[in-house]
Amino acid sequence: MGGAYFLAAFVVLVSITSLSTHVDGKIARKGCDIFQGNWVLDSSYPLYESWQCPFIEEQFDCRKNGRPDMEYAKYRWQPSGCKLPRFNGVELLRKLKGKEVMFVGDSLSLNQWQSLTCMLHVAAPQAFYTSQTIDGLSTFTFPEYDVSLKFSRNAFLVDIKSEERGRVLRLDSISTAKFWRGMNVLIFDSWHWWIHTGRKQPWDWVVYENTTVKDMNRLVAYERALNTWAKWIDSNVDPTKTQVFFQGVSPDHDSVQGSSAANCGGQTQPLKRPGSPHPAEVVLENVLRSMGKPVYLLNITRLSQVRIDGHPSVYVHGGHKDMDCSHWCLSGVPDIWNQLLYTMLI
Ligand SMILES: *[C@@H]1O[C@H](CO)[C@@H](O)[C@H](O)[C@H]1NC(C)=O
Ligand SMILES: *[C@@H]1O[C@H](CO)[C@@H](O)[C@H](O)[C@H]1NC(C)=O
Repeated sequence: MGGAYFLAAFVVLVSITSLSTHVDGKIARKGCDIFQGNWVLDSSYPLYESWQCPFIEEQFDCRKNGRPDMEYAKYRWQPSGCKLPRFNGVELLRKLKGKEVMFVGDSLSLNQWQSLTCMLHVAAPQAFYTSQTIDGLSTFTFPEYDVSLKFSRNAFLVDIKSEERGRVLRLDSISTAKFWRGMNVLIFDSWHWWIHTGRKQPWDWVVYENTTVKDMNRLVAYERALNTWAKWIDSNVDPTKTQVFFQGVSPDHDSVQGSSAANCGGQTQPLKRPGSPHPAEVVLENVLRSMGKPVYLLNITRLSQVRIDGHPSVYVHGGHKDMDCSHWCLSGVPDIWNQLLYTMLI
């Protein structure tokens, strides 16, 4: 890879931070990194209550599932160098008029998509909406605003196919990308399914460059898949028509470094200090840096790392059955991811 090529890609990553300046000179200061900052309690949060969102999935509705503490939904993100604009749902709907937005990824992507649809519905409660899910594609529309928000369930981004020899994960093949064409905003995520082993592992074979293996280092597999994705974006996306975002790796708290907590169970306060860089985050950033087209990293890993209090823990599916330290309660942390996305879009 030539030096000039690398430099071009580097400028793209840097522009993530300067983006907020074009956006709202009054609020975001030049060079302000909106992902560096602190969580502060703010009594005007959350931006909505889960009961105001009639279509919210039970798995994210911690209140309804019996979670007694409230503070976890009352944190606002305060960047160190500037102020975030308050989320204005009607303004965002107007801004997105005539546009299609698609989230592509696993259930963390679903988490963020659902948060955004709730935030917009509560901001414009009179606006008629439609919602349907067919074959892993959920489509939420506001016809009055001519806005469509889709979620395409796609844990690996690359292909996974049933063949005679079993389920094959193809790191070089990305046929579902055809669904991404024509979208005005694309927001990807992928990571959590790459680490599954045993019964939760959804493949029997991994194929890359004409090689078939039973298994391989998961970070290497992840990087190969991301490179396949990056090549597709670089050759198919027209940045004047489509803005591309990548949701950074969402940290789970099944185990916690530097804390006496075994996992997220019973946690009602954020951690005092973030952990060290997530290995998958490092891989993702390297791939994004190598790209020719602008892709904006929604750099939520570190800011979410301290939010051990934001997970459903036992308040999932209406009972004390599981311990969910991966997804996030709604209202909650993903609302702030969307506020950051909003800041980058507006
Ligand atoms: C895979 O095999 C095909 C057919 O033998 C060959 O043309 C191609 O170059 C191989 N690809 C790689 C990456 O080795
Ligand atoms: C993402 O945020 C972390 C922590 O603030 C920072 O170290 C990293 O450089 C950021 N990544 C990008 C691409 O800006």
